[in-house]
Amino acid sequence: MIGLYAITVEYREKPLGLDVHNPRFSWKLKSDLNNTEQESYSIKVMKETEIVWETGIMKSSETNLIEYDGKPLEPETRYDVIIVSTDNYGNTASGNTCFETGIFGKFSHGWITHKFLADEEACPVFTRKFSLNESVSKARLYITALGVYDAFINGTRVSDTYLAPGWTSYNKRLQYQTYDVTDMIRVQNEISVTLANGWYKGNLAFRGKKNVFGDRLALLMELHVTYEDGSTETIGSDNDFMCCSGSVRYSEIYHGETQDLTYIPDDIHKADKYEHPVDMIVYTENEPVRIIERIDAVSLIETPDGDKVIDFGQNLAGFVEFECNLQKGTKVTIRHAEVLDAKGNFYTENLRTAKCTDTFICRGKKEILRPRFTFHGFRYISVEGIEEIDISKFRACVLHSDMKKTGDFKCSDELINKLQKNIQWGQKGNFIDIPTDCPQRDERLGWTGDAQVFCGTAAYNFNTALFFSKWLKDVAADQGKNGSVPNVVPDVFAEEGKNPGNSAAWGDAATIIPWEMFRRYGDKTFLENQYLSMKSWVEYIAREAGNTFLWTTGKHFGDWLALDMEQYFTNRKFSVNTATGSTDMNYIASAFFARSAEILYKTAEILDNRNDAAKYKKLYENIVNAFREEYVTAGGRLVCETQTGMLLALKFGLIEEKHRKALAERLVRNIKKHNNQMVTGFVGVSYLCPVLSENGYHDIAGKLLMQKEYPSWLYPVTKGATTIWERWNGIKPDGSFENPEMNSFNHYAYGAIGDWIYKYILGIRALEPGYTDILIKPEPIEGIKYAEGHYDSIHGRIYVKWAMEGGEISIDTINPVNCKARIVIPGGSNEITVGSGEYSFSEKLKEGIY
Ligand code: BGC
Repeated sequence: MIGLYAITVEYREKPLGLDVHNPRFSWKLKSDLNNTEQESYSIKVMKETEIVWETGIMKSSETNLIEYDGKPLEPETRYDVIIVSTDNYGNTASGNTCFETGIFGKFSHGWITHKFLADEEACPVFTRKFSLNESVSKARLYITALGVYDAFINGTRVSDTYLAPGWTSYNKRLQYQTYDVTDMIRVQNEISVTLANGWYKGNLAFRGKKNVFGDRLALLMELHVTYEDGSTETIGSDNDFMCCSGSVRYSEIYHGETQDLTYIPDDIHKADKYEHPVDMIVYTENEPVRIIERIDAVSLIETPDGDKVIDFGQNLAGFVEFECNLQKGTKVTIRHAEVLDAKGNFYTENLRTAKCTDTFICRGKKEILRPRFTFHGFRYISVEGIEEIDISKFRACVLHSDMKKTGDFKCSDELINKLQKNIQWGQKGNFIDIPTDCPQRDERLGWTGDAQVFCGTAAYNFNTALFFSKWLKDVAADQGKNGSVPNVVPDVFAEEGKNPGNSAAWGDAATIIPWEMFRRYGDKTFLENQYLSMKSWVEYIAREAGNTFLWTTGKHFGDWLALDMEQYFTNRKFSVNTATGSTDMNYIASAFFARSAEILYKTAEILDNRNDAAKYKKLYENIVNAFREEYVTAGGRLVCETQTGMLLALKFGLIEEKHRKALAERLVRNIKKHNNQMVTGFVGVSYLCPVLSENGYHDIAGKLLMQKEYPSWLYPVTKGATTIWERWNGIKPDGSFENPEMNSFNHYAYGAIGDWIYKYILGIRALEPGYTDILIKPEPIEGIKYAEGHYDSIHGRIYVKWAMEGGEISIDTINPVNCKARIVIPGGSNEITVGSGEYSFSEKLKEGIY
């Protein structure tokens, strides 16, 4: 028996508003027999009763991203998809799905805006009453905004998403959303849309900027109604909309929101037309931001300073909602913090200028209050304005992009289990439509370096295909004319007419992330879509380097936050110079130049672009040769033997093979000298354990992971961390904090160890892009007796459990249909290659295996 499940169209289940002309279909298969493979498939796509595409029976094991190749798709049309699959045992399964196209970005209406002064703080509400005939068979709302919006039809929120239309490089790419509102429509209707500043025109970036993308809030929407007889009607944004200020009197991403629920508008006026382009409007590719879970309060604390503080037990990104029945006019103020200080007081210094305060003026009836257009990074809230606080009335709403969870891991060590949870929380807190550095202070920006370092781990924990596919398009859109990739995307630091500034290892997100996503999902479009962006980044550096083939120009962040510059700290004041570590910046720059050129030539090979492949291979070789001449002595010593310096040389193949062994030994000596601890910053961290494992020092990698002394991954865990910290020493051993200028307790970069944990401790690795050939090779480390976890690949769940007991090691694995797995039992005698299905093995432990 086989079963067909998880049928997706462009990675989504039954998507609505899909503006893709040749969408791709994927499915997964399950079977109760081992060694199952798909022998053939057929796909049929129907528009009502008309067949618009039929593949016929295709002899193929392909189940992933098969591209539609039928009649041109029409806008606003539902298509039904039927898939039939037959396996090598002659069993057949079928399944169906559907998708609906959007308006392909083409609005027939224009923008509308309000008449307030541009600096008016209150959020405008646009409303329009309209009547429709009975017998509506379908109604779709197509909507976007300059700002963020919250839309209601007849008092019902049109969707459960937050912060739409999401964050993009708005003036180059602005997303619209499609909602099915059929069930909300009546004969007499009212639509109401509130707009807030959001990222578009709110306070953004720590330099106190405002109006980064524009200085006017505006709305663009169309409600398309289809009646049962096939006739249609459109209600669009026009002068028939009325506008007034609403109960949201103030809302800013960094500073929070003020809602006056007693407010009665006295400024009702007709909406104005607003001239603004529409040609950059695109459909929404990635999953929306939603409240993914709600967390109950754990305790109420009265701090020494007298604050009433609620602890949710978890640092997270989102906001708090609370039920209340307070007297009309009561003002409730909620402030947010990640930590309490050593004395137990509410600590907000590390939020810098972000106020992170929500205020509510109550209406005098039973209600649930929550902000609508802001989010905070917090574990604790301080509450003012409620006499008797009943914590059961408060919940933390966790907000992030609604990506599917794809991986998990647990083992015999509780601290490591907590670390794994913290890594996942770090991801949840920072995947709010774009990959951000942190969710709490006046920053929350799409730092390219952080995303580059963490993307591999991210893609184990959640399905990040759409999330990164969307963000990478903004990376390309914000690239300078000269190919320079900005340090943050969307580029809030952009200056008119200037190319963006960049840094090695940050700009390389443009090559490293598409490559990593291609390998994860076997999806070549990551490479096709990003090819020009990848190429112009490498070309940019190549021009900077000229015929030296070394990148020695520009400003770089170095090995950001590395601890090997510690000796230069004087009064421990934060300064960019002390944050960059002591690995030579130009050395890092040329190392990443080589890595990006290597990815580029391999990409050109995959895309069958032979000229480019040859050209960039040559470039890569030239860079490696120049690097060796400049930075490696004849005897194989590096001029820069910091941990990160050695890691990059080993990982990127920058030293000759004959010197590899000795260099790896010196790296280990360096680590041992540091008391089995790392001093790497953002750049070295993701390579540390992989390089040790790949070079015969897996035991040392294990020691680093299990290390509890600062600096280490487990040190924050022992200090009660519930997320990954920005700095190894965010809370110092004596309980005091690092410099508040740069001390976020929710920064995912150091969580990059997650990738190695999945690959080496759990032992799931891909031998080919897309996990069709899997290597199951757990490599135990001292202190861990068993591990169990899974990764949901594009073919289905890969499950591994291993345990050591009574001198034996056992492994249980489950491999998806269509996949081959090479299983290597730790310390076991031989490798076993198996097909799909469940397998269990056990062997006597060899000596030397923990
Ligand atoms: C951010 C980072 C970022 C760094 C670059 C910081 O302010 O929080 O995570 O990568 O700056 O210098």
